[in-house]
Amino acid sequence: MATVPIEQAPPAGTLVVKRHSAVVRLAHWLNALAMVFLIGTGLNIFNAHPMLYWGEYGATADADRRWLSIAAAGRKGGPYGYVEIGSLRVETTGVLGLSTGANGQLQALGFPGWATFPSYRDLGTARNWHFFWAWVLILNGLLYLGHGLVSGHIRRDILPRLKELAPANVLHDIARHARLDFPKGEEARRYHVLQKLAYGGMVLVLVPLVIFTGLGMSPGMNAAWPWLLELFGGRASARSLHFVAMALIVGFIVVHLLMVLLAGPINGIRAMVTGKLRIARESLT
Ligand code: HEM
Repeated sequence: MATVPIEQAPPAGTLVVKRHSAVVRLAHWLNALAMVFLIGTGLNIFNAHPMLYWGEYGATADADRRWLSIAAAGRKGGPYGYVEIGSLRVETTGVLGLSTGANGQLQALGFPGWATFPSYRDLGTARNWHFFWAWVLILNGLLYLGHGLVSGHIRRDILPRLKELAPANVLHDIARHARLDFPKGEEARRYHVLQKLAYGGMVLVLVPLVIFTGLGMSPGMNAAWPWLLELFGGRASARSLHFVAMALIVGFIVVHLLMVLLAGPINGIRAMVTGKLRIARESLT
């Protein structure tokens, strides 16, 4: 994300600056595509046993190790779907646990068909696609990190400076976001602290966590790196952490897309495609 102006472009009063390198752009869009398939296929795989446990193993009988379940139950007025976390049960009929299938009939299913890939229960197909896109994510991540470390992108643009982390600065940035007051002019040339924390959390914490917990569940990797499963506290714990990391990634994506929309989607998305961002000249300092 060099900050040198590279050309002056119409409309008048607009400066065009180089924003994203080709590797960052390629890695970003490949990552976005991989995420769509990984989340869809992952939810389909999860539906084979929509319950999560802590420890080395977990099955329907291990209620004492279970911390989450998405299921359907019956009662007088008819069946209902629910999510249970610990002792808290929330009714989710129509979306989680019990939803309308392609045939229009209610079906007991963890996540509904519209959220999974394929949209019907097919563990074999979902696993094949999941593992394919997982390797795309891993190789793409290595390309991004390798380039980011060598080019200085991670250090310069993603890791926040110590003074940016001062509580007053972070609170100021949160307040500006709440007012939908996004950086303009000189300030818009680089990521602000909340963006750095969100992007850094994604590329340096959540994506590595989802990858390593995924590898930890692979029997082949258990033979090669037995310490990995031990690190996460067992297969059931690795599966739980994999799911939690996925849920946080989904949360990031929702907020990320909202921010892109609010901050000016055409300029932002064009910059992620062409590499060049337009900045209003009169607001430059
Ligand atoms: C259609 C979906 C998406 C759109 C339109 C989109 C758009 C953008 C835009 C415009 C930026 C640049 C922001 C700026 O320059 O201020 C950006 C950066 C970024 N996006 Fe996305 N994004 C999408 C999906 C995703 C997904 C699924 C992820 C990860 C799960 C993601 C992770 C990131 C990261 C980490 C950056 C910072 C990249 C860097 O500078 O190294 N994005 N995105």
